[in-house]
Amino acid sequence: MATDQLEAPPPDAGEDRGSLAGVLRSYELAKRAEWQVRDLPWGELPPIPQYTGSPQRGARRNDMWRSVITQQLQADQLAVEMATQLFAIAPDPEAKLYYTTMVQDEARHTEAWLKLAAEAGGMAERDPYLEELAHMTLEADTLEEKVFLMQVFYERLIISRFRLIARSSRGTVLEELCNRLTVDDGIHHTAGMAYERVLLASAGDATKNRLIDAANRMLPIFVQHALWRPRAREVVGRMMRQTDERNLREDIETGVRLAESLGLDVSRVELAL
Ligand SMILES: [Fe+2]
Ligand SMILES: [Fe+2]
Repeated sequence: MATDQLEAPPPDAGEDRGSLAGVLRSYELAKRAEWQVRDLPWGELPPIPQYTGSPQRGARRNDMWRSVITQQLQADQLAVEMATQLFAIAPDPEAKLYYTTMVQDEARHTEAWLKLAAEAGGMAERDPYLEELAHMTLEADTLEEKVFLMQVFYERLIISRFRLIARSSRGTVLEELCNRLTVDDGIHHTAGMAYERVLLASAGDATKNRLIDAANRMLPIFVQHALWRPRAREVVGRMMRQTDERNLREDIETGVRLAESLGLDVSRVELAL
């Protein structure tokens, strides 16, 4: 990558940068919230929930947790790529500054999941739909689409998943990690909302329409990703299908409301569910 792409263009003299104050606030917040992988209670708490029942059941439970960890590791590895791309292409110096913290956050999350996967007995199957979603975001044509898909949509929806995992894994390193990720992704989402608002304020109808088209292309894959269960969780997946579909519908409706709050015309959004 050429270095001139990494250098933020200097703001024009007298130009009002006040609209980016929210993005700068997220930058300050992210620096204060930064933590280290070594701060997690390694060795003090079990990595994942421990079971005292039969060894077969214990092994099955363990496979299920390894699968949960693998999906989150996969998501954060892809998030490093996406945050790096946002850092590289965002034209505003305030946003560039902010994205330096997001790249570091996603890298730290990846390191934590890698260590947790090793402590829990290794990795499991990767979700093919998550890979596809990441590529749609990485290959999206405009910055507006990328910020929308990554920060407005995914990083808001992942928070309820972290809360759910934390609730089911009390007293473990996994719970502690999910609590920290809830805070970090809360900041990523807030920053994305603030920046998307700035981007859309100067965007024309064509850009806004493309964003809705991108959302319509993404939603069916998102549904498949949300309902996908690897072999280790197939049985639980079948039992949870109705609950999963209900939660998914709520998640998508949340995404549509967020799009609407950004001034987008959501009447063309197809829910795909
Ligand atoms: Fe992350
Ligand atoms: Fe994130």
